[in-house]
Amino acid sequence: MVDRPLTLPDLATRKRDGRRLVMLTCYDALFARLLEGAGVDIMLVGDSLNEVLAGHRSTLSATLDQMIYHASSVRRGADRTPIVVDLPFLTYQVSVEEAIRNAGRVLAETDCHAVKLEGGAPMADTVRALVDRGIPVVGHLGLTPQAINTLGGYRVQGRDAPAAKQLLDDALALQDAGAGALVLELVPRELATQVSRALTIPTIGIGAGNGCDGQVLVLHDMLGLNDGFSPKFLKRYAELAGSVREAVAQYAAEVRTGVYPDDAHSFD
Ligand code: KIV
Repeated sequence: MVDRPLTLPDLATRKRDGRRLVMLTCYDALFARLLEGAGVDIMLVGDSLNEVLAGHRSTLSATLDQMIYHASSVRRGADRTPIVVDLPFLTYQVSVEEAIRNAGRVLAETDCHAVKLEGGAPMADTVRALVDRGIPVVGHLGLTPQAINTLGGYRVQGRDAPAAKQLLDDALALQDAGAGALVLELVPRELATQVSRALTIPTIGIGAGNGCDGQVLVLHDMLGLNDGFSPKFLKRYAELAGSVREAVAQYAAEVRTGVYPDDAHSFD
């Protein structure tokens, strides 16, 4: 049997079968190859790359061209894994027409498989319009980093009853509009579990506890490359920043002392 890539509509089946989804961010072809080899279910070209790679303090200044560049690179490194690409700030909020054009560009120019956008019920018409035109959509609720200036900081969302009800209503509105999955970021685990049970589409949590249908982390954070960043929800599965520093320090010492390059690394 041919190993068919997972598609966004398959995700609801995975949820029905009780199989948790593994998602990681990915920004380039080299890591995409490694992640696909390790069996990650879905890759997310997150606009977090604007912070992680480009050094900005928020995701707000990420551009569509930047996302397309990175998404194309990821796609070249991964043949079998569905790739979701974040639509950056102001590429989908101004009008439905702009959202269709920009999301369409992402799929057409990168050959990736879906876009992700932030926001609840107010985005439902946009989600419906994209899905109706053949553009699969993943939603994003809870802490939505593009709204950081109205949310007032990176803090857990939906803590009181009205906010929790709003989040549940938003989740249902996105599902009704045709979203194929939903990222829940920084949400109390009881609420994330309640939302996950209320939906037929999978929820993918980050800082949202164990009741979601899948989990996502920022790759550079879970690999310990970004060792200044340690929020409570983050588990580091490696400490690569230390390894990088050690390797570079050793290389520098060997170059300075003339130990490298030695005979084994030179041509006669
Ligand atoms: O941009 C991103 O990496 C994200 C994840 C944190 C879910 O949206």
